[in-house]
Amino acid sequence: MIIHNTSDSIQRALLPFFKKNKSIGFVPTMGALHMGHISLVEKASIENDCVVVSIFVNPTQFNNSQDLEKYPRSFKDDVKILEDLKSNIFVFAPEVSNIYANKIISKKYRFSGLENKMEGKHRKGHFEGVGTVLNILFRIVKPNKAYFGEKDFQQLQVVKKLVEIEKLPVTIFGCSIIREENGLAMSSRNKLLTKIQFNEASLIYKTLSEVQQKFNVYSISKLNNIVKERFKNRNLLKLEYFEIANIKTLKTVKRKRNNNTYRAFIAVFLGKVRLIDNIMLN
Ligand code: PAF
Repeated sequence: MIIHNTSDSIQRALLPFFKKNKSIGFVPTMGALHMGHISLVEKASIENDCVVVSIFVNPTQFNNSQDLEKYPRSFKDDVKILEDLKSNIFVFAPEVSNIYANKIISKKYRFSGLENKMEGKHRKGHFEGVGTVLNILFRIVKPNKAYFGEKDFQQLQVVKKLVEIEKLPVTIFGCSIIREENGLAMSSRNKLLTKIQFNEASLIYKTLSEVQQKFNVYSISKLNNIVKERFKNRNLLKLEYFEIANIKTLKTVKRKRNNNTYRAFIAVFLGKVRLIDNIMLN
């Protein structure tokens, strides 16, 4: 498998696809690939003539330099995983300088307020960083379709807004969350968990499932209290936020209204590892 480390190199490889109007599917990643990523690549490869997988740990979306430093990296394993899929895959793994030249800064974006809620509130500048790198990557790869996991549901909504703002000719697809046997949503960050933390982390999905089951019966405030209660006095787990939000605006909901669709969102710390998850409620 040829690895393309520069935008020139990947564009040269994709030239025949651009010229013949063949469909390019794109799966942007930060590496440390898992079954969640693989499910995106498989979907992309069914729906397109080729798939580009980018592996790029984007510095501008980290609001904490330690988090960036510790982000799991397993490039050799990632390439092996992609090779084993035996699909028409191009790997694009640029250097930071190739993406940002000498200015590692985010573009100023406003995503209709989506950027200020939940992840945006707790990780300042995160979505501007995500928007900046994806705008650059989309302009290099020129995909027809791009695939994102619903584990990062807020990111998915932001990316749809980005495509509108930048008028990019790409269709964005959200794909279902893939879970470990214990219910934990697959994430590159799971690699940073100890065995004990991994087992404890099953409480995240267990709690979300409980909220889903009780959603029609209990008020939002009662559900919020149930979640607080579940995470109270847990030595290994620290609840950062739990919110029930409207899926379009991502605004926190205090009272349910007819004809609105809601999702529950959660962020939890296990030591220094921060995990997020979400679930559809109605
Ligand atoms: O979800 C991710 O891995 C990243 O946020 C993305 C979309 C690759 C942008 O860096």
